Amino acid sequence: RAWYPGHVQKAKRQIRENLKKIDIVVIVLDARAPVATTSFEMKIFKDKQRVFLLNKTDLADSEYNKKWACEIAKLYPTLLVNKDTKRKELLTFLKSVPTKYANPRIAVVGVPNVGKSTIINKILGRHKAKTGAQPGITRGVQWVNVEGLTVLDSPGILFSEIFSKDIAAKLLLIGSLPIENVDDEIFDYAFKIYASAAGVQKDIVQFLEEYGRSRGLLKKGGQVDYEKAKTLFFKEVSEGKHGKLTYDTDFEKFWEVLKNG
Ligand code: GTP
Repeated sequence: RAWYPGHVQKAKRQIRENLKKIDIVVIVLDARAPVATTSFEMKIFKDKQRVFLLNKTDLADSEYNKKWACEIAKLYPTLLVNKDTKRKELLTFLKSVPTKYANPRIAVVGVPNVGKSTIINKILGRHKAKTGAQPGITRGVQWVNVEGLTVLDSPGILFSEIFSKDIAAKLLLIGSLPIENVDDEIFDYAFKIYASAAGVQKDIVQFLEEYGRSRGLLKKGGQVDYEKAKTLFFKEVSEGKHGKLTYDTDFEKFWEVLKNG
């Protein structure tokens, strides 16, 4: 977990302090990696009504989007969303969540960069984006009333607890891990996962050699600048520029991670 900066503790404390007041936890997952983005300390939400938003569906495999939504909906209210989802659809879903409270207090939580701020902005009908592309940006805490919901105007940033190479690699592929903090072993593993999902036959060295050359990412002597090629390639993958791919496809693993988290 060394790659997460010092505000992890602060973020955790913030969530715990606010948790007492929360009735419904809206857990935002990345549709490309529902298992990796569920890999956090879930037991802090044990007594809360949990609902799931599978976000960034525009970047994931459309067949798997449907499959994942059906699977998670077996136990929890679940909605497939992306940046183009209408505010009305999101509000209708949230208002339909069973609760014993007249004005349930809602918090939006998830690992870095899954789209929490974008979703909060949409719920609040705010167009001026308070989002940050840099993973892990926190903001001030405030409650806002919206159509019978009391919404925490601050994303709850969660950090992966059950850390493994597989999870780290998938978080890298979806842009939830800052590239600077990733070592070569994770890059190689992430590339294998990407290649398998995308049907690419080359290994990372062959691939980056060709990719770097085609993008003109060369050193003075004319050799490919491997570091530059790697950085740009993984950034582009996380932005969906190399296909709409779903990396997590194991439903059982999801429930296992959810239970143990
Ligand atoms: P942190 O504050 O770092 O925890 O991020 P966050 O979870 O609040 O995510 P944020 O809303 O800032 O979105 C992160 C990036 O993903 C931004 O560049 C958004 O524009 C982009 N994004 C959010 N939702 C979607 C989506 O559904 N599809 C696509 N393609 N991009 C999205």
